[in-house]
Amino acid sequence: MNQKIVHSNVTVGENGHLYFAGMDTVTLAEKYGTPVFLLDDSRVRARIREYKEAMQRNFGAGSMPLFASKSLSFKEIYRIMAEENIGTDIVSSGELFTAVSAGFPMERAFFHGNNKTDFDIEYAIENGIGYFIADGIEELERIDEYAGKAGIRQKILLRITPGIDPHTHQKISTGGVDSKFGSAIETGLAKKVTDFALSKENIELCGFHCHIGSQIFEIEPYVTAADIMLTFIADMKARFGFTAKILNLGGGFGVRYVESDPEISITKNIDAIAEHIHAKCEELDVKLPTIYMEPGRSIVADAGMTLYTVGSVKEITGFKNYVSIDGGMTDNPRYTLYQSAYTLRLANRANEKADFPCTVGGRCCESGDLIQENVMLPKPKRGDILAVLVTGAYNYSMASNYNRVTRPPVVILRDGKDKLAVRRERFEDLIACDI
Ligand code: LLP
Repeated sequence: MNQKIVHSNVTVGENGHLYFAGMDTVTLAEKYGTPVFLLDDSRVRARIREYKEAMQRNFGAGSMPLFASKSLSFKEIYRIMAEENIGTDIVSSGELFTAVSAGFPMERAFFHGNNKTDFDIEYAIENGIGYFIADGIEELERIDEYAGKAGIRQKILLRITPGIDPHTHQKISTGGVDSKFGSAIETGLAKKVTDFALSKENIELCGFHCHIGSQIFEIEPYVTAADIMLTFIADMKARFGFTAKILNLGGGFGVRYVESDPEISITKNIDAIAEHIHAKCEELDVKLPTIYMEPGRSIVADAGMTLYTVGSVKEITGFKNYVSIDGGMTDNPRYTLYQSAYTLRLANRANEKADFPCTVGGRCCESGDLIQENVMLPKPKRGDILAVLVTGAYNYSMASNYNRVTRPPVVILRDGKDKLAVRRERFEDLIACDI
């Protein structure tokens, strides 16, 4: 096997084929058809264990990652999280339903969202949701009401906006004062909402949450966020005598998509953040709360790969070359939305010289339906298999049926064996809701 490509689970075999998680991707494309999502199970579990080890060593046995399942949601994912004994962050009743269907223990589920409907709140309580991460006053009123009806005291965390601007894409930055999420400390709303939550009979306020954004490579914004949150915790103790048992620092660790991206060490990041948290707790005389984090991307992104088949190659002399594949923005809208960089390889000719500049596009009736622009590949031809690397996060979960395209299957690679986790959609699925 040759050297890794971007991540250690991607290599080139002696037959010139691309291997993923030790398996020949060309064989997998033949077996399952394309497009197909592959997921390297051992990579997912290794990432989870790395988070768990670092968090529990630094913050104690109760500390754990809560997988942000918006990044990848289907039944088998929740089974993996359940087996690994971690929590999960869900953001809709649909994710909750999927988790419940997979037998995920609801006491370790945290329900997010800036506008939970009455249905969401009632449905989650009926299903024994562990915690709501409550966004504001209206929601607290409803949680109190439905918890009262159910005869329980519902545990919650409050989502707080620390007022931080991490250096990431604007559409995935969430911690600023002007964010649509949570209550800002700066405006005084966070304090008011805390007071309100504490006044509610059927609500048990357990602590606070913040999430500053996604695809963040620096440690500094986390340290600043932790500082601000611990200072807020100290303030709430002084004002209301309230001791926060939990501090959830959200997700957002950056992932390497292309060789030029840095590769962060989860362990080193957590160690550095922890050192700061311990010092700050001492300075403020705050008892260390149980620390949770909500990683999504950094757990599943590099465990994923998508395989496509090349359909056409169009050379527009003097302009550019288009390579069209049998998928596109319907299975990966991230280039269209955020101009996200990806690494591409021809899976069946992975050892050939990449000397053909091209733009890789999908099949949708939109010029913006592109997977990547200005990449170099060996000149593709119809029937070649194109692999897009690091597609485990926010690809399958953001896939759509635009143009009535059926969504690809997800195949889990585990111990050198492949297993279907989500079957390919059929045409009948497309009209399943049509009357
Ligand atoms: N917690 C909360 C409250 C979040 O909003 C998010 C992501 C996470 C945790 C997980 O963040 P991660 O560890 O995955 O960075 N569709 C975009 C990403 C949107 C992120 C939304 N929130 C993309 O494809 O880049």
